[in-house]
Amino acid sequence: MHSRPRRPSRAQGAGAKSIAGQNVIAIDGPAGAGKSTAARRLAAALGFTYVDSGAMYRAVGLAARRLGIDPDDAAAVADLVAQVTFVADPKGTRVLLDGTDVTADLRATDAGVWASRIATHALVRERLVERQRALAADGAIVMDGRDIGTVVFPDARYKFFLTAHAEERARRRQAQDAGSGIASDVTTARREIDARDRRDRERAIAPLRPAADAIVIDNSALTPEMVVARMLETVRARARP
Ligand code: DC
Repeated sequence: MHSRPRRPSRAQGAGAKSIAGQNVIAIDGPAGAGKSTAARRLAAALGFTYVDSGAMYRAVGLAARRLGIDPDDAAAVADLVAQVTFVADPKGTRVLLDGTDVTADLRATDAGVWASRIATHALVRERLVERQRALAADGAIVMDGRDIGTVVFPDARYKFFLTAHAEERARRRQAQDAGSGIASDVTTARREIDARDRRDRERAIAPLRPAADAIVIDNSALTPEMVVARMLETVRARARP
């Protein structure tokens, strides 16, 4: 653990009020809940930019693994953030590590596990939250993650919390992995998702939870089209004078 002074950090929400949350749609939820599919489609429907905050944690985790950095060394891991470039692209967030595009390497299961481990450090989160807020400065965005509505953009105009039964999430994750050429089975996916969710929910800093003003959507029995239609309905209803 590092020993920084105990004052409210930016990652814990202080100073967030001045951020342009009005441009932001936040989508949070556990692993495999369909956040990225919904976020990408919603962004396309509204002409917003989609930003995948999980890709940022994955990139830092990947960098730590490749460089042999101890994932429990908060200061050393936080220093890696400077080596990563995030490009908000219509198709999703692209990530460059020391100038090399590593986006395709971020989906591997162990990249998710490393991401979840390094995501427990306050200093790492502080630096990534700063980057996430900067990405919203250029225009309207849909950002998905674990703490977007609670910490990164507490003033987001719209907040959704997407969830689904654990078995269904494991099934989807396995199908997604198979589609990306990653061999896995539902039992392994379920074990990995359960462990990662537990760590994301139980961590001290910015734990996974719905914001008090988030609209919770259980999409276990909904298609992605239905989820996005429900989100668009909310956005359009509130946008009316
Ligand atoms: O959304 P994902 O599966 O790509 O995220 C990978 C990990 O990164 C997730 O298990 C926890 C961490 N993460 C986080 O702590 N906060 C975010 N806003 C996004 C991801």
